[in-house]
Amino acid sequence: MRMPESEDALATLSGHYFQLFEDYLGNLLGTRDDGVPSRLWESMAYSLQAGGKRLRPILCLAAAERGGVGPQKALPLAAAIEFIHTASLIHDDMPCMDDDDLRRGKPTNHRAFGEALALIAGDALLLWAFSHALTHLPRAGVSFEKTSKAVAILAEASGPSGMCGGQVLDTDGESRRAGGDFAFSVASAKTGALIRASVVTGALLGDISDTDLRCYYDYGTHLGLAFQIVDDILDVTRTRDELGKTPHKDEAQGKNTFVSAYGLDEAQKLAAEASEEACRAIEELFPEGDLLIDLAKSLADRKS
Ligand code: IPE
Ligand code: IPE
Ligand code: MG
Ligand code: MG
Ligand code: MG
Repeated sequence: MRMPESEDALATLSGHYFQLFEDYLGNLLGTRDDGVPSRLWESMAYSLQAGGKRLRPILCLAAAERGGVGPQKALPLAAAIEFIHTASLIHDDMPCMDDDDLRRGKPTNHRAFGEALALIAGDALLLWAFSHALTHLPRAGVSFEKTSKAVAILAEASGPSGMCGGQVLDTDGESRRAGGDFAFSVASAKTGALIRASVVTGALLGDISDTDLRCYYDYGTHLGLAFQIVDDILDVTRTRDELGKTPHKDEAQGKNTFVSAYGLDEAQKLAAEASEEACRAIEELFPEGDLLIDLAKSLADRKS
């Protein structure tokens, strides 16, 4: 499995969660349900196991543990989140969207399996995310009330006003320089909403106060923003090998990014500011420091 460079930094900080998640996913993918056609299963597993950083599951498991819930209990939620994220990448890479050939260091799903199967694999992963969380969170001991709350937040973050909406804004911004405010709107929706939901849904599995939940919400908001600003920066500063995806795509496609709107230096400052804001949002919860704070710092200067 390809290990992107920043996966190493993430894994060093959160190796325990990373490994728990990989083991859970490996187990899940080890047995195909009889009802699932083998080609579809292969296509879904191909993208899930191509070697992503697993940032969102790590955030979910870490937030759950800080809310007082053992990561074992939160794993079905972490998996659901990674299914949604992976589906979004499969669709994002398709010729009708960003038209990419390389993802996670391997040919994109539609390159490996064809467009029809890639489209359906993305759909199937999205739906599996919800059936998996709804079935397996209660089995892991999470109440139905908390399960439905987490799933509703996840659905909203992924849907029309979240990730899907953001992908539409991203496409709308192509070939016109819509500017900085628009870059913020795109990033908050297409990337920020799911990252924030990873933190918030993990935290709310436990018994935490509304005030503390608000801190996690703000942390997730700023972290999601920082993450997408850096994604835009990496597109112009890193190589194909470092990224495991094709660089210099945003400019070629006329995307309205933080780099096109602000220039590289200013975008770097914005990323650092967003990461500092993320740390500030939870510092009162962790006066002695915490993995979540270290993660936010490390993501601001990640390499892939
Ligand atoms: C890439 O996400 C797409 C964005 C939302 C910016 P990641 O950089 O988290 O991709 P993987 O999961 O590590 O492949
Ligand atoms: C992708 O954004 C966002 C989602 C998949 C929701 P990008 O198009 O910038 O991601 P990369 O650069 O292809 O990974
Ligand atoms: Mg895109
Ligand atoms: Mg893309
Ligand atoms: Mg990008």
